[in-house]
Amino acid sequence: MDGAVSEAAPRLDLAGKHIVLGLSGGIACYKAADLTRELVKAGASVQVVMTEAAEHFITPVTMQALSNRSVATSQWDAREPNNMAHINLTRGADAVLVAPASADFLAKLVHGRADDLLSLMCLARPIERCPLLVAPAMNREMWAHPATRRNLAQLRADGTTILGPDAGDQACGEIGDGRMLEAVELLEEMVAFFQPKALRGKRVLVTAGPTFEPIDPVRGITNLSSGKMGFAIARAAQEAGAEVTLVAGPVHLPTPRGVQRIDVRTAQQMHDAVLPAARRHDVFVATAAVADWRPATLSDQKIKKNGSKIAPTFELTENPDILAAVARLPDRPYCVGFAAESHDLLKHARDKLERKNVPLIVGNLGPATFGRDDNALMLVDARGHRQLPQADKLTLARQLVAEIASRLSTASA
Ligand code: C5P
Repeated sequence: MDGAVSEAAPRLDLAGKHIVLGLSGGIACYKAADLTRELVKAGASVQVVMTEAAEHFITPVTMQALSNRSVATSQWDAREPNNMAHINLTRGADAVLVAPASADFLAKLVHGRADDLLSLMCLARPIERCPLLVAPAMNREMWAHPATRRNLAQLRADGTTILGPDAGDQACGEIGDGRMLEAVELLEEMVAFFQPKALRGKRVLVTAGPTFEPIDPVRGITNLSSGKMGFAIARAAQEAGAEVTLVAGPVHLPTPRGVQRIDVRTAQQMHDAVLPAARRHDVFVATAAVADWRPATLSDQKIKKNGSKIAPTFELTENPDILAAVARLPDRPYCVGFAAESHDLLKHARDKLERKNVPLIVGNLGPATFGRDDNALMLVDARGHRQLPQADKLTLARQLVAEIASRLSTASA
């Protein structure tokens, strides 16, 4: 092989999951079509159930074609051998997701009303085995109304998971809270919902991406880190139930849902953001490829060619080592470092373990990972090392998060 790495197979985050997707009446029904596609693409089987009001916004034909199953719309559907669609629909289901959930439908759920198939089915579902999630969609005044506030509090108390809503432009022309989340956001929420909650109640701080060390107003020193591995770790930790803070160097990546992001540019800024926050966290994962050096002086004007053909020279000064500084804190979080090397991975990772005085170093080959969607990791600690073989970065991040969680629970046992 020439050192190239083969692409990992696409991840099917919802493989084996059966989801009942309920649609109540609202303009956001148009998003349910895309949501069905996203869920199916992620490996789920999807059974659509629609209220009569939903059928005014989107047809069962569309939903049937996208879900590849006939849509259930009535409790009087004689096609069911036992004529009990409201029971049968949820018995093999892993979750019911109502998206969109109108204000009226939420009110019906609160009161246990059961005068149409979807509300009847929600009431008749096995509450311990089949969780209910709702994605509200309504006008901002309806969302803010005390009746809706009361209903949401009661739904939460009854164990319902509320997804969103978002704020922004509304179909009615007004602007505010109440827009249903987009299909990809709902997919991300569903995937997270099914992940094991190994870090529930923990706080995780992650650094990601490169840093940029300015030379003059238009140039600087940086590296090829894309930030993908660090962002995947932040997402995986959040999926595992942690409260996550992500300190990101200059990258163009969307913030994982539910993660608090702090953007920085230089190593010094990253250091200044991380150090005061570190004490408040249980885990620190230093994924960022921090520049070791920065120009000693910053030219406030663009450095020009001076015609003499003599290239300018720079003096460099060392950047603070963020990981080592966190590891020196008296009440330090559990620290995980990364080693992106071009060769002798194990040797360099071992060296970092000691030099930075951290319990776990994650090694990877820089040229084989920078910018890519997949990677292979080597976990190195004082006792030995273990490979996490080639996979997409989110899969690896979930494995790493599970490993960190088990080390935390062993440490606190
Ligand atoms: O050998 P190196 O110092 O580059 O070690 C890499 C590890 O240390 C990574 O976890 C990286 O995020 C962290 N690091 C840091 N601050 C630096 C340099 C590296 O936190 N200035």
